[in-house]
Amino acid sequence: MKLRLDKYLSEIGLGTRSEVKKAIQKGLVQVNTQFVQKPEYKVDTEKDQVMFSGKPAVYVEYEYYMLNKPAGVISASTDSRERCVVDLILSRRRKDLFPVGRLDKDTEGLLLITNDGGLAHRLLSPKKHVDKVYYARIQGRVTQEDVAAFRQGVDIGEEKRTLPAGLLILTSKEVSEVELTIQEGKFHQVKRMFQAVDKEVLYLKRLQMGPLVLDATLKPGEYRTLNRNELDMLC
Ligand code: URA
Repeated sequence: MKLRLDKYLSEIGLGTRSEVKKAIQKGLVQVNTQFVQKPEYKVDTEKDQVMFSGKPAVYVEYEYYMLNKPAGVISASTDSRERCVVDLILSRRRKDLFPVGRLDKDTEGLLLITNDGGLAHRLLSPKKHVDKVYYARIQGRVTQEDVAAFRQGVDIGEEKRTLPAGLLILTSKEVSEVELTIQEGKFHQVKRMFQAVDKEVLYLKRLQMGPLVLDATLKPGEYRTLNRNELDMLC
């Protein structure tokens, strides 16, 4: 791919467009063996070697990170007051990363962070019916009636009932443990589904989204890049 030099540098987070333009004009940027002082110079992202202030500036078009989202962080790219999930990706190169879908501030678990809009669309489009699997702790005894209700779809105050969802009871006690598989992603969906059967979600963690499964070795707040196998399954 051919890209303007200033765009190339700013896309990989080396400064704003005007900052990198100034750096180029000052003679801080080298392409292969030449110092280039024209921001509009076209770089071949596959062939050219770019140096910025004497350090390699390697182009990456897409980045894919699996984050175990901790509670207390919001699912956004930037926010003036709150800590965002993208802030946790310290090794990020691209400045246009965003979370694929939203988890509530108090929800933990699997969140894909990328700048690949096509992939995000495929995973989030309501028409695609992508499975999302959650582990939850619920106040009260979850029963087979709840399983049947979720299978039929429940009224969460929207125009239509929820799509059929798979509820697996892991333990049914004063505080029950369940695994829930849904194919939608409405605002507070899991919490509202349990409210519809008069129960409260005490803890919620996403375990899986489509073929992507949360790496059990990642502690809350930790992340890693997707491996080849995961990328092949998603793309
Ligand atoms: N459903 C919820 O209620 N909250 C989440 O964070 C995700 C799904």
